[in-house]
Amino acid sequence: MNKKGVLIQGSSRSKGNTNIIVSYIKERTGFDVIDLKSKRISAYDYESENIDDDFIPLMKEIVDTYDIIIFATPVYWYAMSGDMKIFFDRITDCLKIEKEIGRKLRGKIMGMVSCGFDAELKNGFTMPFIESANYLGMHYLGDIHTWIEGGAISESLQKKLNSFIEEKIKII
Ligand SMILES: Cc1cc2nc3c(=O)[nH]c(=O)nc-3n(C[C@H](O)[C@H](O)[C@H](O)COP(=O)(O)O)c2cc1C
Repeated sequence: MNKKGVLIQGSSRSKGNTNIIVSYIKERTGFDVIDLKSKRISAYDYESENIDDDFIPLMKEIVDTYDIIIFATPVYWYAMSGDMKIFFDRITDCLKIEKEIGRKLRGKIMGMVSCGFDAELKNGFTMPFIESANYLGMHYLGDIHTWIEGGAISESLQKKLNSFIEEKIKII
């Protein structure tokens, strides 16, 4: 694999459970990590009065640097985190104002990692990622659901993660 990848972490805490999973994948792929919690990105504004926050420079860096974008989000109230949803909402700016960025997303590869309370992930969680990838002209490599037990990744989940990394990410 010689494509460059990035893990975009959307947890409300930088060093929480999602970060344990992100760090595991980072160690095995060499992907960079972007922590949305460390960025100043405000909710979508129809008037674009927030266009000078961290979102546009961050997106420019992402589209100019990476071929594979993996969104890593905790499960909050059966859905992606608020920070992650704001990030997706703001992609609208790349379709309406910074159109060059939107165009550069085409052909890139998207994946998704969820981190919840346990092994169950309710139906429909993955839909916004799959449909957003379709809408943006990105290829969806797939997704994996994860959870943390006693501060660690269980052996069975490690196996699942290793397969995801080998079979979905590294073959690209
Ligand atoms: C606001 C909030 C809502 C949550 N809602 C869910 C949920 O709907 N389903 C679930 O499985 N876990 C839920 N959880 C548990 C988290 O998904 C779980 O603890 C996750 O590992 C937290 O990752 P983090 O440390 O990166 O935030 C919720 C946690 C929080 C803080």
